Parts: sequence; structure tokens; C-alpha cells
Amino acid sequence: MPHTSPPTQIGPFLYFRASDAAGVAVDAIVIRKDTTPPAPILIQDTSHAPHLLVQLPAHTVWRYRLTLPPEATGYRFDGDTYRVTAHHAGDLRIGFVSCNGEEHGDLTRPEPERNVMWHRLLEQHRKAPMALLVQGGDQIYADEVTDGHPLSENWPDDVPLDPGAEDLADLEAHLSRGFIDRYLTVLGAAAPARLMAEVPSLAIWDDHDICDGWGSLRQQATMSAVGQCLFRVARRFYLLFQHGAVEADVPDLFLDAQGYSLSWRHHLPGVTLLAPDLRSERRRRQVMGIPGWRAIDETRLAAGDHMILVSSVPLLGPRLSLVEGLMMSIPKMQKYEDDLRDQWQSRAHRAEWQRMLRRVLEWRKAGPVTVISGEIHLATRAEMKSAPGPVHQLVASGISHRAPSAGYARGLGLLAGLGEAPLADHPIRILPVPGQKRRYTAERNALVLERVDGTWSARWHLESSGITPPLELSDGAR
Ligand SMILES: [Fe+2]
Repeated sequence: MPHTSPPTQIGPFLYFRASDAAGVAVDAIVIRKDTTPPAPILIQDTSHAPHLLVQLPAHTVWRYRLTLPPEATGYRFDGDTYRVTAHHAGDLRIGFVSCNGEEHGDLTRPEPERNVMWHRLLEQHRKAPMALLVQGGDQIYADEVTDGHPLSENWPDDVPLDPGAEDLADLEAHLSRGFIDRYLTVLGAAAPARLMAEVPSLAIWDDHDICDGWGSLRQQATMSAVGQCLFRVARRFYLLFQHGAVEADVPDLFLDAQGYSLSWRHHLPGVTLLAPDLRSERRRRQVMGIPGWRAIDETRLAAGDHMILVSSVPLLGPRLSLVEGLMMSIPKMQKYEDDLRDQWQSRAHRAEWQRMLRRVLEWRKAGPVTVISGEIHLATRAEMKSAPGPVHQLVASGISHRAPSAGYARGLGLLAGLGEAPLADHPIRILPVPGQKRRYTAERNALVLERVDGTWSARWHLESSGITPPLELSDGAR
């Protein structure tokens, strides 16, 4: 059954803002096809009215600013009761998903097949509620939004040099319709919609939230009027649908008040979450610019905190520079070379990769560091050796993107067997997820991190193999 057009009203979707002794602050948005305001949200019998956030061509977006006190069990909206975990001290469960879509034909995939892992995650949430849903990149696959307009039809291979203002305004409207339609269809599906109504999200984008390979493409495409229009529109709807926000909110939500970099950091009791924006400032020879790196360098970890570092592309990986070197010598492999350029391991980014790894080792002296990543449509994990204990990396991808072949996963596993040590004395090992024999598991998947009695662990939810045994993440874990 293909997706049907979005209903009159979708949402609420919750976006995490802060967590402290007063409870959990979230913003919620509801999107309507007409201009009638949606119903108020009731928390412990207090009514919260929405305010109009954005008027889109065919929709209105309404926002609620809410605080759930620690003893609250959720909220009521439009006759339905939604359960929300409002106490973050003590036991805590965090879901992690990435790669929610596919490059071609994503909106016409049969819903039960496309969203099978979302349904499983929702089932798990009903048994053991998650307090937070981290979305690690490629929340939509926008690749097709450039189709159907003369200025962007051949993006990124053939980009018009000097388009007129009127044509560009027309392109902006075309791209806006494409992004809005995609977000509403993807978010509006039953299982992700219910999860996002009960579990506040924290999201960081990757390339497909803009277009395949954004930042790693040729400068003449990225910096063209068409490329900049695409980025501007992608960013507007990334803020709106992945952060429940508009441009004026940027200084409150992100570490760079100017918004050149949309990296964010949040503190929950005993845990720091940091998500560097690896897309806004990416260029052929740069992962992050001055604002992006400033946010990383200024991050200090309180002693004893557990750091969860969200790296949209894996920070610990095999020696891809070998493959990249080979591909650069074969013109037909150019497309794959762009994909490799997206990785931390690219030869063009080696100094920045080492800089980030050194920073991670500094944080590791204060407490455990767990990197969570997506991007590769496989489940895997890695460890980087360090004196206080390993830095863990957990890769979970994709929640709806189908896995590549088992042969591809095996090939990558062989490459990973070569090992990699970008910093002397800190070798990186790629390892199977618990219960699996091979380094890369070619199944759709999601991840749930859990703190029980102060001890952190993680389990992958694999499409065919089921839920893995836990991987212990805390120092001195039992
Ligand atoms: Fe992806």
C-alpha cells in the first residue's frame, strides 16, 4: 500500500530542549492543512495553548512550549493520552536511529515494509519507555526534490551558471514543496509519528537531509546559486521539522549563535550529549570550520559524566584511504570517491580526523565516551584503545534504508581486518555487535542505550536476528 496524502493534522512532535530538577522542557509542533489552531495540550490539568510558528503555502505550523515536571507521566491532546518520561536522573533509556529513507522512490514504498523497524521500536518503547530519541542523520532522503525543475534537473552534474532572480524564486518554491511533502509523509507515518509524540527528539543532519554528498561535491555546484538555494531551503525545513524551530531560535538551540554551524550540546543528569554539525561547513578539504571547531574545543566533560558523541558519519572506521587512493586513479569511480570524501578517514580530512580523536581522548580521561553513528546501512561497533579504557563506537543504520548485500558487508569486514591507527598507540578495532560473528551485520537496525543503576549498556535491534545481548559501556561494568 503506497503512502496516502497527509491527513488534516499531524503531530504533536516533541523536541528536547532541557532537562533539570524542574523536569523536562520540550517544544511540540502540530501541523495543520487549514488555519484553525489545534487543541491545547494538557499537562497535569494545566492547559497550554499553541502559537502560530510558521505559515507555509498549504500548511500552518503551531508550537507549544512545555515543561513536564518530573512527576508528570505525559500529556493529553485531542482526546488521546501520550506517555512521556519526564525524569532523567537514575535509570534512563535513549533510542538512536539513522538513515530513515532511501535515495529513490522512498515515498511510494509500502508503509509496513518501509517502517517495520519503527514499529518494532514503538513496541519496545511501550514495554520500556525511552526518554530521548536521538536521530543521527539522513532523517529524510531529499535526493529527488531537485527533480522536475529546469534549474536543478541535472543537479549536481550540470548546474546553470547565472540563473535569473525570478527562476531562482521559482526553484525555491519548487524545492520547498518537495521538502515539506517529504517531511510530512515520512514523519506522518503511524509508528514514527507516535514515537515522536512520546519521545522528545534530538537530531543532527547528514548529507541526504540536503542532497547526496553535500559539501563533498565540486565547489562549482555547492557554491552556485542553485546549490546555495538548495542548502537554504534544506536548512529551513531541517530547523522546522527536525528541531521544531525557526531561524530566530538558532542562538538558543545551537552552539554557534550565528548558525554557520548547527552543532549542539545538552546535559542530562550524568550524561553529556554532543553532536557536531558535520555538514553545514563541509567542503572538499574541510569537515568543520572555525565555528564548528570552537564548539568542540570548548566542550569540557564534568568528571564522572558519560559522554555520548553523535557523529553522523562514523568516527572510528577501517582504512578507507586505501580504497580512496585506488578510486582516484579510475575516472568512472568518481561518484564513489565523493562518498569516501564524506568520511572522516578520507585523506583530505586526515588532520581534522586526528584533531577530533585527540579531543575524544581528552574527554575519555574524565569519563566514558561512547560515539554513536549511522550512515553506512549496517550494524557494527568499534573500539579505540586508550589508557582509562576503550572509546566505544556504536553504529546503527538504517532504520528504514535497506541493508546492502552480505557480500559488501563481508568485503568491508576484510578491509577492517587490516586495522587502522591514525594516532600512534591508539589503534582502532572494528568488532561485531554482540551475538554476531561478522564485523558488519547487513540488516536494518536501531539502537537503544540504557542506564540501569548507574551502569550503561547498549543493544542493537536487528531486523532478522532480533535484539542483541547488551554491550557494557561503563568503566568497571559488571
Ligand atoms: Fe544514509
